Amino acid sequence: MTQLPVNLMEYEPLAREKLSQMVFEYYAGGADDEVTLRENMAAYQRLFLRPHMLRGVGNRTSDITLLNQSMRAPLLIAPMAFMKMAHEEGEAAVARAAAARGLTMVVSTSATMSVQDVAASAPDGNRWFQLYVETDRSHTVELISIAEEAGYTGLVVTIDRPQLGRREADIRNNFRLPSHLKMGNLNVASWEAYRLTELDDNLTWDDVDWLCSITRLPVLLKGILRGDDAQNAYDHGAAAVIVSNHGGRQLDSVQAPIDALPKIASAVGGKLPILMDGGIRRGTDLVKALARGAQAVLLGRPVLWGLAHDGEAGVGHVLDLLLAEFDLALALCGCRSPQEITPDLVVERR
Ligand code: FNR
Repeated sequence: MTQLPVNLMEYEPLAREKLSQMVFEYYAGGADDEVTLRENMAAYQRLFLRPHMLRGVGNRTSDITLLNQSMRAPLLIAPMAFMKMAHEEGEAAVARAAAARGLTMVVSTSATMSVQDVAASAPDGNRWFQLYVETDRSHTVELISIAEEAGYTGLVVTIDRPQLGRREADIRNNFRLPSHLKMGNLNVASWEAYRLTELDDNLTWDDVDWLCSITRLPVLLKGILRGDDAQNAYDHGAAAVIVSNHGGRQLDSVQAPIDALPKIASAVGGKLPILMDGGIRRGTDLVKALARGAQAVLLGRPVLWGLAHDGEAGVGHVLDLLLAEFDLALALCGCRSPQEITPDLVVERR
C-alpha cells in the first residue's frame, strides 16, 4: 500500500496530478498578485503559542455547540463552487465525509448538485446553505425555502462578492464550467449566463434586515473584515459573522482573517458567534483562531484536494488529519476543550 499523506499540504500536489490545469488553477488561485492568498497562510506563522503545563489533559473533547447545534469540533467545511470538477461524486462525497465525522458542511449556491440532492446523499449530516443573493429576488426567496425544506440549519450569506474578483489564471485558462456539469441551484443555461446574471452588486444592510425577516434560519454574514461591519451585522439581526476574505479570491491585498479577528472580537465578541476562514492548514492554526476570538473555523481548499485525490475517502482523511492535529494541539497547549483556549495562549512575533 502506498503511504498516505501525513499533512494537509501533501494533498495539493496529489490533487494537481488528477486535475486539468484549468481546474487546478481555478481551485488554487487568488485575485491579482495573490498577496492575500499567500498572506492568509503566512499570518499564522507570525503567531506563537504560550502553552500551559501540568493541567491534566487526559480527558479531552473537541465538541462545541454553535447556534444551538452540536458539532464534533470547531471545524466546518467552507462553501466552495463546482465540486464535481474535482470528482464525479462532487458535493455528495464531501457531504458524506463531513456527516460521518459530525462536522457541518456549508453548501454553495454554485454547487454542481442541487441542495436537495446534497441533503439526500447524507441524510444524517448537518448542513448550512451558502447564498449568493441574485438580482432576481424571487429566485433567492425560492432557494432559501428549498434549503429550509431540505433540512438546512443555517443560511450563510456571502457579502464580499458584489463583483467577481479578477483571477488572472482563470482569464489565461479561459476558465469555464465543463459542459457535462450543471449548476445545481441556478436557472442558467450556460456559463456565460451564469456570469452575467448571478451577482447583485447593490446589496446593502437593508437587505440583511430583509433576509433575516424572510427566513427562520440563523443568518450568518460571510466576508466581514472590520469591527464596525461586525457591529452592523449584529445590529441588523445576523446570528453570527464569518471573518473571511474569500480565500484571497476577491479583493487582493486585504488583511488575513486571522489578523482581522482581534478588532472584530473586541467589537462584537460575546454578542454573537464569530467564525473565520482562510489558510487553515494545521491544528495549531485552529488554536490560534480560537485564541483570537473565533468560535469555529471553516476549511477550504484542502477539502478539494482530498476530493480530487480520492473522493469521499480523500476528504475523510483530510478531515481526520486536521481533527487529530487539533486534538494534539489542545493537549500540548494544556487545554481540555476548545472553551479553554484563551487569548493569552497566543502572541505575535515582534
Ligand atoms: C471558494 N469560496 C467560496 N465562498 C463562498 O461563499 N461561495 C462559494 O461558492 C465559494 N466558492 C469557492 C470556490 C473555490 C474553488 C475556493 C477555493 C473558495 C471561498 C471559501 O468559502 C473560503 O472562504 C476559502 O476558500 C477559505 O480559505 P482556504 O481554506 O481555501 O484558504
